[in-house]
Amino acid sequence: MANPARAATRNSAVRRAEILKLFSKRNLSVLALLAALGLGAFWLLSAPRPLSAADIPQHTADLANGEKLYNAAGCRSCHKPSPDLKDVDANLPAGGAPLKTPVGTFYPLNLTPDAETGIGNWSDLEFVNAVQRGISPEGEHLIPALPFTSYAAMRTEDILDIRAYLATLPAVKSPERSADLPLAFVVRRGIGLWKWIGLDTAKWQPDPAQSETWNRGSYLVNGPGHCAECHTPRNIAMARDNAKAFQGGPHPEGVGKVPSLRSLIERGRYKDAKDIASALQYGEMMGYDKVSSGGMGQVQTNISKLPEADIQAIGEYIASLK
Ligand code: HEC
Ligand code: HEC
Repeated sequence: MANPARAATRNSAVRRAEILKLFSKRNLSVLALLAALGLGAFWLLSAPRPLSAADIPQHTADLANGEKLYNAAGCRSCHKPSPDLKDVDANLPAGGAPLKTPVGTFYPLNLTPDAETGIGNWSDLEFVNAVQRGISPEGEHLIPALPFTSYAAMRTEDILDIRAYLATLPAVKSPERSADLPLAFVVRRGIGLWKWIGLDTAKWQPDPAQSETWNRGSYLVNGPGHCAECHTPRNIAMARDNAKAFQGGPHPEGVGKVPSLRSLIERGRYKDAKDIASALQYGEMMGYDKVSSGGMGQVQTNISKLPEADIQAIGEYIASLK
């Protein structure tokens, strides 16, 4: 007569032996090999791929252009002086003010030419790699909270002009503060993988069928203005879904949506391209009611500093999005 208790013990002994066999030396070495291959692939695929010195064009700096694009790009909005920096002009990009993002809190660095705490000692190559490839001078991936995904489309000469303009600002001492970024190492390497789909390094191209002003607007919107970072929805991989360009996205403050920029005139939001330009130039002060929350107020303030012709060009381009 089989003793059920003993049979159960024997069954579990068999199962244990099977499990042990699974972890036999040979299988373990196969598993270890697979894990190593996986890690190796991750390591290779997530490695930073910076530009080299040969990618930096010979260029004579144009400071006026640098200042314009600095405003269009809104660098100051994120690189604001820390509230601890007393007596520092709030308009300087002295860095250190907290910037909350879904992955952690950043204290974007000091962009003034201070040699120790700012970017005074950076080479042009280091600057271009940070702004257009999201790679720090230490060779780490930067988080796309710095919108290098849009700045990558800009002419490199324009990035050098921004750099030259920054070098004319007064140097401020504002020590770097590292981000509160849980699992920073893994997250940064992960960004390396994400860049394969999330970072398009193609430069902006003019559309010869369109007017010069339309093309100017297109460049300002799709390059420095990084308007699509908020106004284009993202796919499940958190990359911009370009098939739905400018159709609106989730609101950075979590409530409601970032509005669509398509068919603004047809939908009766604005009379014409000039009216859109006025909204960007004057904002809420002049009764335009949807250009202030969720970071748009800062964008509007920055855009209002551009020459009127540039603001009109942005209006013309936005009005053409159907
Ligand atoms: C929407 C916010 C935002 C805007 C706009 C922005 N930045 Fe940043 N920037 C950041 C954040 C956040 C970081 C830090 C990213 C990280 O640590 O991964 C950063 C990092 C940098 C770095 C590299 C810092 C380092 O430690 O290596 C440079 C250089 C820089 N930004 C320059 C610029 C310039 C120039 C502009 C305008 C053309 C600009 N940023 C616009 C948020 C922004
Ligand atoms: C940081 C995210 C962000 C960026 C970058 C951004 N926007 Fe916006 N934008 C918003 C939000 C949020 C609103 C809605 C604001 C509100 O309702 O107060 C908005 C509203 C607007 C509106 C009004 C739409 C309507 O229905 O009336 C226009 C026009 C606009 N943005 C144009 C632009 C342009 C042009 C750029 C680039 C130069 C840009 N935005 C960049 C977040 C952004």
